[in-house]
Amino acid sequence: MRFKQYINENIGDLTGQVIVITGANSGIGFEASRFLAYRGATIVMACRNLEKAKISAEKIIEENSGAIIHLLPYDQSSFASIDNFIELLKQKFTRINVLICNAGIYSPSRHAEMLPGLKLTIGTNFIGLYYLMRQITPYLDVKGVPTRVVFVSSLSAYHQPIRSLNYILTHNNSLFQQYANSKLAINRLFHVLAAGMNLHDFQDRKNISFYLMHPGVTSTNIIHNFPKWFADLGRFVLRIFVHHADKAALGIALLAGAPHVFNGSYYVPRGFCEISGKPIKKTFPKRMIKGSGQFLYDVGKFVKQLEKGQ
Ligand SMILES: NC(=O)c1ccc[n+]([C@@H]2O[C@H](COP(=O)([O-])OP(=O)(O)OC[C@H]3O[C@@H](n4cnc5c(N)ncnc54)[C@H](OP(=O)(O)O)[C@@H]3O)[C@@H](O)[C@H]2O)c1
Repeated sequence: MRFKQYINENIGDLTGQVIVITGANSGIGFEASRFLAYRGATIVMACRNLEKAKISAEKIIEENSGAIIHLLPYDQSSFASIDNFIELLKQKFTRINVLICNAGIYSPSRHAEMLPGLKLTIGTNFIGLYYLMRQITPYLDVKGVPTRVVFVSSLSAYHQPIRSLNYILTHNNSLFQQYANSKLAINRLFHVLAAGMNLHDFQDRKNISFYLMHPGVTSTNIIHNFPKWFADLGRFVLRIFVHHADKAALGIALLAGAPHVFNGSYYVPRGFCEISGKPIKKTFPKRMIKGSGQFLYDVGKFVKQLEKGQ
């Protein structure tokens, strides 16, 4: 494992801490799981494919025989799966210390849908995440027990104009737009939660602190659903110009386990144009704040409509 010194210097002993990571079987989520298991945390890998998760967990245990890892089924594109996941989590643990919201896709099809009228990428990356957060915050919010939630965003969010929910649900002209809008929406959810803004769906969050990281650009499986030639070419090009998933995961691990970070912290890679490098703290971009309360209010109403329609 690389970066042992960095991890030892920045992250304390996490023995006894329960850290849940969504999409932990691959890429950035997998590397963050390795780092945090190395510091002694009990890791819950929340994954939609438990076969893949088992192989990934075995890799971590192979290099660290003391690692404690649990696997739970979790599909962020299904409200029923999210409800089931929270139930299983409650049965296993009376409380958890950190939730890392890492699962995400870059759908290879512009037309793929999670539900009728809801595109798969925005549905999985953001609407599913919103639903998870709404359902899980009462369980996370335990008096006297500080709990952290770490969101994983993307550099692509910088490149989208601020739009209403209705606009981003109906104007999905490119795959990039769908992905970037889903990440911009995560940024706005992070801001509203961290800033303590009043939001009907999130009354219980006094003991939770919120963090956001965009990991730059890294070569992972995020493009594995694309045609093989495209995915291979993409991975080859990315490997030359950008950092490896372990370096990209350093900031996520830091926000989950470092003692010196505080609510509302926003981290990015420190290199050229924030594409790669070790993590550094940055001021959250002001333009993403504007109108985020109204945006999240609209999301809450939209999610309720989806639930009624199911
Ligand atoms: N790679 C980059 O350059 C980059 C840049 C910025 C942000 N990010 C973000 O970093 C996060 C991790 O991505 P990655 O690059 O590490 O890609 P990755 O290797 O493909 O990992 C994504 C993880 O999310 C899981 N996932 C996908 N759809 C899911 C669903 N419906 N329910 C539950 N889990 C689901 C995947 O599971 P399967 O293995 O079953 O597909 C996988 O475990 C994502 O949020 C991504 O948007 C990545």
